Amino acid sequence: MKGIILAGGTGSRLWPITLGNSKQLIPIYDKPMVYYPLSTLMTAGVREALIITAPEHADLFRSLLGDGSAWGMRIEFAIQPSPDGLAQAFIIGESFAAGDSVALALGDNIFHGSGFESALPDTKNFEGGHIFAYPVPDPERYGVIEFDDDGTALSIEEKPHKPKSRFAIPGVYFYGPDVVDVAKGIKPSQRGELEITSVSEHYLREGRLRVSVLDAGTMWFDTGTIDSMMDASEYVRAVERRTGAKIACPEEIAWRQGWITSDQLATIAGPLKKSGYGSYLLGLLES
Ligand code: TTP
Repeated sequence: MKGIILAGGTGSRLWPITLGNSKQLIPIYDKPMVYYPLSTLMTAGVREALIITAPEHADLFRSLLGDGSAWGMRIEFAIQPSPDGLAQAFIIGESFAAGDSVALALGDNIFHGSGFESALPDTKNFEGGHIFAYPVPDPERYGVIEFDDDGTALSIEEKPHKPKSRFAIPGVYFYGPDVVDVAKGIKPSQRGELEITSVSEHYLREGRLRVSVLDAGTMWFDTGTIDSMMDASEYVRAVERRTGAKIACPEEIAWRQGWITSDQLATIAGPLKKSGYGSYLLGLLES
């Protein structure tokens, strides 16, 4: 399975912060926001990722992430000329996907917790669709999924005025190799975007959509507003300071996955030593 991170968009809810910068490069506590979705994909076992950005930010992402080889990955970059919807990711990423299944992670979504890790699908020989549901107080801001009494998914609606449930669909989606064709077949919504809900609806109609309900064992943040960004930063800070372990540290995940050796981790850590991030990585080797 390959991974796509959507790190374009306008970030208009964060203006003026995002007038001269990409939202996904803004820090969430001690690391750039894009490290979090990247870590989500890496935790799922995805080693090849495409980062889709707005044209004016492509070079910034390249200089931050390089080609991924330092983390035992392959990272490519593509541009989305204008933010025409989440499902456009699969069309932009067609040649990158090259007939493989694809996990899409939104660049401003953060997941943490053992509940989430155990809910991640097996990415080998993946078919159909697998999405998540998370109970929220404000479902009208999201794609909303409705269930019957047996927990079977009935319908999916994008930002409904009258949500049929309190279950929002968080920003990580797993789809089989046919997702590029599915995305090509959907029509833009009334707001002119290729909606990810239309992609999931397609799999739901065909009876090929799995939905995992995430419970309190998972923290999910959509960091699109100042307050949610601050909430996420405070959460990461509190957990990291209390446990001594970092959330969403790509170097650590790569090392634990066996994608890089201890020597390679030490080489990455050395130049970062002054920030505490590097000394954390060196500490992993000592412990
Ligand atoms: P949104 O938060 O819906 O959009 P945005 O980031 O442009 O923010 P705002 O509403 O404040 O203007 O997007 C969710 C994520 O998906 C975010 O990481 C940006 C990304 N995105 C794209 O990369 N391309 C797109 O076409 C859209 C709609 C979003």
